[in-house]
Amino acid sequence: MACQLLFSCSTKEPKFQQYYVQGEQLYIKNCSNCHQKDGKGLGLLYPPLDQSDYVDKNLHEVLCLMRHGKEGQLIVNGKKFNKPMRGIPSLTDLEIAEIATYIYNTWDRQHGIIDVKETASVLNSCK
Ligand code: HEC
Repeated sequence: MACQLLFSCSTKEPKFQQYYVQGEQLYIKNCSNCHQKDGKGLGLLYPPLDQSDYVDKNLHEVLCLMRHGKEGQLIVNGKKFNKPMRGIPSLTDLEIAEIATYIYNTWDRQHGIIDVKETASVLNSCK
């Protein structure tokens, strides 16, 4: 995992590239309707993923909500959102890892790859 937090290192890895490219396609297909292609969300209806302090702070929660959805009030960048998001149970562990790798390495984020193994163990512990 030496490369995990070093963007310059992980971007050169074919595995990273594959996750990122797949993740982008999956994001466009499954998420961009609401959160928009540029990740900016839509007013107070759909919260942003770009420049979201929620995304920055809650990797585990973000993985879980892709599968199980989320309801109840959420605060993103000090703004309140409260409209349930349905989970997408058909997404595999790998697909969730790929989408997360895309979200955490685009729009100024440089987290590095979010591996399927790490993702699977988080998904097993979703509340
Ligand atoms: C049908 C619209 C819709 C789709 C499709 C959708 N979401 Fe959401 N998403 C929402 C709503 C609404 C909320 C706010 C939930 C709440 O208020 O509890 C949300 C919240 C979130 C949050 C937490 C708040 C934030 O913006 O930081 C993340 C992260 C997120 N969604 C990621 C995704 C990802 C990744 C996908 C695709 C796999 C996706 N969403 C698909 C509507 C959607």
